[in-house]
Amino acid sequence: MELLALRWSFKLLSLLLVLNVIQGCSESPKNNQESRAFFTQRALSLAPADPEIAEIYTRTCHSCHSTGASAAPLTGDLASWKPRMEKGVDVLVENAINGFQGMPPLGLCFECSPEQFEQLIVFMATAE
Ligand code: HEC
Repeated sequence: MELLALRWSFKLLSLLLVLNVIQGCSESPKNNQESRAFFTQRALSLAPADPEIAEIYTRTCHSCHSTGASAAPLTGDLASWKPRMEKGVDVLVENAINGFQGMPPLGLCFECSPEQFEQLIVFMATAE
């Protein structure tokens, strides 16, 4: 009887451990808010190295992608950009030009060429 109780408490303990690990993997809303604040802070200080792209970026994408004011993936938040980059950069250029859910068509850059969109996207997704 005691042995059975011991076995059960052991099972319960392992279950709790597993649940703890699972919980640890999924970010709690508090952590999300904290990392969003961290990346917003960082995004505000990032700028493309190429002065021409930097000028476009500051005038356009920056207003949403570095402020956290919208649901836009933040510049330099690599984890947010990873699943998007997995679609392929060509798809992202197309989505930036045509608009994608909360992302308005052309992202305020009405004169940008597809090459410039690509440079802007790669910069935001890699912070380089
Ligand atoms: C008015 C706000 C706003 C501006 C300005 C803006 N974006 Fe966005 N962008 C968003 C939002 C919001 C999303 C997230 C869309 C979603 O997934 O719901 C997004 C997502 C994206 C995505 C990901 C699309 C995908 O397929 O997942 C790309 C690429 C992108 N923006 C590029 C740009 C570029 C390049 C610029 C500047 C030329 C720019 N954005 C300017 C709001 C903006």
